Amino acid sequence: MAGDTRIALEKVSYSYGKGALKKQILFDVDAQIEAGQIVILTGPSGSGKTTLLTLIGALRSAQVGSVKVLGEELLNAKERALIKARRKMGYIFQSHNLLDSLTIHQNVRMALQLAGIRGSEARDRIGEVLDRVDLRDHEHKYPRELSGGQKQRAGIARALVTRPQIILADEPTASLDKHTGRYVVELIEDLAREDGSAVILVTHDNRILDVADRILHLEDGHMRPLSEVVSEGTSRMLNLLEKHDPDSANYLASFSFALARIAYSDGLVRDSERAEMRRILHEVARLEPAEVEFIMELSMMLKRTESGLDNRLDNPALDEERAEHFMESLFAIARADGKVTSEELVEIEAIASEFGLAKHISSKKPN
Ligand SMILES: Nc1ncnc2c1ncn2[C@@H]1O[C@H](COP(=O)(O)OP(=O)(O)O)[C@@H](O)[C@H]1O
Ligand SMILES: [Mg+2]
Repeated sequence: MAGDTRIALEKVSYSYGKGALKKQILFDVDAQIEAGQIVILTGPSGSGKTTLLTLIGALRSAQVGSVKVLGEELLNAKERALIKARRKMGYIFQSHNLLDSLTIHQNVRMALQLAGIRGSEARDRIGEVLDRVDLRDHEHKYPRELSGGQKQRAGIARALVTRPQIILADEPTASLDKHTGRYVVELIEDLAREDGSAVILVTHDNRILDVADRILHLEDGHMRPLSEVVSEGTSRMLNLLEKHDPDSANYLASFSFALARIAYSDGLVRDSERAEMRRILHEVARLEPAEVEFIMELSMMLKRTESGLDNRLDNPALDEERAEHFMESLFAIARADGKVTSEELVEIEAIASEFGLAKHISSKKPN
């Protein structure tokens, strides 16, 4: 296998059942994931995400195509080879999967025992990982004594204590509130980046897409290019806006995309920038929170995939009041994380010139 490819899927198909009851779930799925990459797998419920993850995770054996994990072919692999492969991966499930009869410390230790790591090395690693997930004070408690978020963190500690080269997480935030979900995903991200692990994270949660290096989208068992999905979403967004307020649809779409460009200009969207964007969109558009969320995420996706809004709409001409507000909002997003960076300023200038608003910049530029 070339380079440091951890997972290579080629034309993977999978069916459940036999004979007349046979139902094909996955169709010719291709994907390649390198060391150090965090890949988010999205797609509607029932699209085959969990099935794909269990094939990669050696929890079942693929029937057609090629599934190479850490260089080993898992197609038609025997149980023994599957078990060996499984030991090299860390799994994080939707619900924590801890053993109720063991303490948190014991749960984590069991993962190390299975990997053949004992003694002082095991003790050090358990201490370290429990510190990382902030559960050191709770290590002698049983799962039932912990909150949902704490249990999920314990599950992460157990999955990651062996420093697996591959981490598979199936909707790890599904049972958590927004805030805890975000925290848990960032924790997985940090730990994975430290160890250079390859991560596949299945999620429905749009708010965490930005931790991904790459997004894979599964629909009815087919991998779909993200640009297609985004473009479809864009049409939906424009329709929605038009229904809401035909006059300002064009403006809102451009406006929201411009805000996303600033938020992304220094490569990373911070929570503070997201919050500011949500506030501005909410105030301008008088949309429902869910609509604001949708438009915001879609604009972010447009920016991420560099699909842009070209060919979809022309930049609207802005009257004085809107022009002022537009420029102020761009700076508000840029300032949301504390200071306006040079990247942000470059992007603001680019947008201003595209909208013919250059003269509105100078008064707002920070010194
Ligand atoms: N063990 C199984 N036996 C038969 N059908 C299954 C089994 N597991 C999942 N399916 C079916 O396969 C399809 C994809 O399921 P799944 O991979 O769980 O999707 P997702 O994780 O994207 O929601 C669904 O139609 C589901 O009903
Ligand atoms: Mg699933």
